[in-house]
Amino acid sequence: MNNKVVVVTGAGNGIGKGIAELMAERGAKVILATKYDEEGYLLEKALKAQGYWACYVQTDVSNEESVKNMVSQVLKLTGKIDVLVNNAGITIFKSILDATVSDWNKVIDTDLKGVFLCSKYVAAAMIENKDGGSIVNISSNHAYRTLPDTEMYAAAKGGVNAMTRSMAISLGQFGIRVNAVCPGFTDTNHYQHWLAEKENPEQVEKEIFGLHALGKISTPGDIAELVFFLSADSSKNITGSDFLIDGGLTAKLYHSEKF
Ligand SMILES: NC(=O)c1ccc[n+]([C@@H]2O[C@H](COP(=O)([O-])OP(=O)(O)OC[C@H]3O[C@@H](n4cnc5c(N)ncnc54)[C@H](O)[C@@H]3O)[C@@H](O)[C@H]2O)c1
Repeated sequence: MNNKVVVVTGAGNGIGKGIAELMAERGAKVILATKYDEEGYLLEKALKAQGYWACYVQTDVSNEESVKNMVSQVLKLTGKIDVLVNNAGITIFKSILDATVSDWNKVIDTDLKGVFLCSKYVAAAMIENKDGGSIVNISSNHAYRTLPDTEMYAAAKGGVNAMTRSMAISLGQFGIRVNAVCPGFTDTNHYQHWLAEKENPEQVEKEIFGLHALGKISTPGDIAELVFFLSADSSKNITGSDFLIDGGLTAKLYHSEKF
């Protein structure tokens, strides 16, 4: 990744933060394209303190002007973009009977339109630079199998996987590869807050671990390793693919103690 310019959306927390940290450690110039100043400046400062190259650019991936502004700021600063990681995403799990159009718009605007907008403007910059590039979309295991009350999120992530294939075909002629990484349970602040709200968090976590073939959930670092591989030249003939990373959770047909 030496001197490659890597844009990570939603880099302020969780999986995006893990990806930004790994990319910086491995020599990339990392753009932290995230929504909130507090998170963005904090991570920029922490990475710079370790001697890495990092720059926070305030970005709302659901807003076209904000995305255009982010891309033009990055080009002014570095002259090119080599890798885009479309990681920013939100989750609203709600019954379809209670979910509102406003809920639908929030999820789709961030998780699906955000991938469209960032890819559109970054791909144009990659084409202009004539040196190809790699786009990695952070999708979810909900793109394959899902649960009740997740319609909006499952639709967005299923859309991300479908769009990944189409973008790979459209952009292959410019040497731009496009792949999706689909995490399952990942140990982020978001997961820890969700767990803390349960009546018996320890018991719930034990049950969750038990659903996984490997007996554990992923860390942001685990996801970052796969994203790194798909961003680097070692994956130079991989495009249009989606990769599940979930400790074997989704491999199982069903879960029952009775049979
Ligand atoms: N954590 C999991 O278990 C898990 C599992 C599967 C998939 N994912 C996916 O991984 C990605 C990251 O999830 P996470 O759990 O790390 O989330 P998180 O909530 O911990 O972090 C998301 C980051 O994105 C930023 N963000 C939110 N909206 C944004 C916007 N409109 N523009 C720019 N930045 C924005 C937030 O400020 C935050 O820094 C998401 O796409 C999510 O769907 C997460």
